[in-house]
Amino acid sequence: AAAGDPAITEIQPWMQELGPGVDEFPYGMPSPYESHVRRRNVEWLTADPVSSINFTPIHELDGIITPNGVCFERHHAGAAQVDPAKHRLMINGLVDKPLVFTMKDLMRFPRENHVYFCECAANSGMEWRGAQLNGAQFTHGMIHNVMYTGIPLRLLLEEAGVKTNGKWVMPEGADASGMTRSVPMEKAMDDCLVAFKMNGEALRVEQGYPLRLVVPGWEGNMWVKWLRRLEVGDEPWHHREETSKYTDLMADGKARRFTWEMDAKSVITNPSPQAPLTHGKGRTVLTGIAWSGRGTIPRVDVTIDGGKNWHEARMSGPSLSKSMHRFYFEFEWDGTPLLLQSRAHDSTGYVQPTKDELRKIRGENSIYHNNGIQTWYINEKGEAENVEIS
Ligand code: MTE
Ligand code: CO
Repeated sequence: AAAGDPAITEIQPWMQELGPGVDEFPYGMPSPYESHVRRRNVEWLTADPVSSINFTPIHELDGIITPNGVCFERHHAGAAQVDPAKHRLMINGLVDKPLVFTMKDLMRFPRENHVYFCECAANSGMEWRGAQLNGAQFTHGMIHNVMYTGIPLRLLLEEAGVKTNGKWVMPEGADASGMTRSVPMEKAMDDCLVAFKMNGEALRVEQGYPLRLVVPGWEGNMWVKWLRRLEVGDEPWHHREETSKYTDLMADGKARRFTWEMDAKSVITNPSPQAPLTHGKGRTVLTGIAWSGRGTIPRVDVTIDGGKNWHEARMSGPSLSKSMHRFYFEFEWDGTPLLLQSRAHDSTGYVQPTKDELRKIRGENSIYHNNGIQTWYINEKGEAENVEIS
C-alpha cells in the first residue's frame, strides 16, 4: 500500500468520459462484469435441451429473492411462446358452470402478493448414492424464490362452483408437453395462486408466461406453467407425472407416491466449489439458504468441523412461510481445512436429516426429495469440494 494503489491514484477510464445516457437501455441488464452469473446446465443429465433443466446460480446471489433472469428452467417440451391475446384459461369438469377466461377477464379478480420458493422434486437427486456434482448451483440450484402476484385459485373455482363430488383439480399446460398433475381440492382451496407476475413484472416466458399455477411448499412439477385448463374431478388422474415420474422408489422396491410437500432443507452457498475462499485466513463470511414446504425456518445450525461443534447461524431478511430464508455465520478462519455443513429446523419442529439418516428410510434408489445435509470440504488453499462424511 506504500506505493499507492493505482485503483486510487490513477484516474479510471469511467471518470474520463461520459457514460450511456438514460434510455440507452430501456430494459436494464446487469453489469457486463457480472456475465459469469448465469443459469448453467449439466450436459450429461439430459439428451435434448427441449426436455431439460438448468440451475439457478445460488452461489452468486444473496438475500432471498431470485432475479427473474436466473430462475432455473425445467421444460418437458421447451418454453412455449404464448400470445396472451390468444391465451385462455378454462375451468371444466365437476363444476356448476364451466368457464373460459381471457387474460383481461382475470385482471378483474382480486389478486394477492406472496413470496414462495419453487423447488423441483429432483433437486439434489443426483446425490443419492454419494457426492456427485461439484457446485451448489448443480447440487441445489433447482430452486427459485419469487414474489408472485396472482389470483387465489379458490376464487376462480368458486366462480365456477365446484360440485360436492369435486375432490381433485387437474391443471394443464399449454406447452407441447401438455403437462398435467392431480392437485387435491383442499390444497387448491387453501393457498394456490394463478400467477401472472413474478417479482413485479410479467412472468418470464421460461416460467410460464402468461399464467402459471403456484402450489406453495409443494414440488415444482405441480406448478404447471402456461396454464390453460383446470379440470375438476372426483379422483386423481394418475397421469405420467405422478406414476412413472415423481414417485419415490424405496429400498424394498415399492414406490411412494403423492409425496407433494418439500421437506426442510438448507445449503451453504458460500464458500462452495464454485465460490472458493480466496482471501486466506482471518475474517470469513459463510452464508446460505434454507426453506421448508411446511412453514418458516426459525433456525439454522452451522458446523465448520464436520459436526463436532454446531453454531446457531444468524438469520437475516424476511421470514416468510414456504419461502427461502437467508443465514450467515461469520468466523475467523485459521487456514486449516474445514468441513462445512448446515442443518435447517422448520416451524413444525422438523430437523433436516443427514444423508445417511435419509438413506436408512429411503434407500438409494430414489431420485426425488433428497433433503439430506450437504458437506463441503475446504482445503488450506480455500478450494471447496463436494464430499460426504459419516
Ligand atoms: N409446466 C409445464 N406446462 N411444462 C413443464 O415442462 N415443468 C415442471 C413445472 N411446470 C413443466 C411445468 C417442473 S418439473 C418444474 S420443477 C417446474 O415447472 C419448474 O419451473 P421453472 O421452469 O419456473 O423453474
Ligand atoms: Co421438476
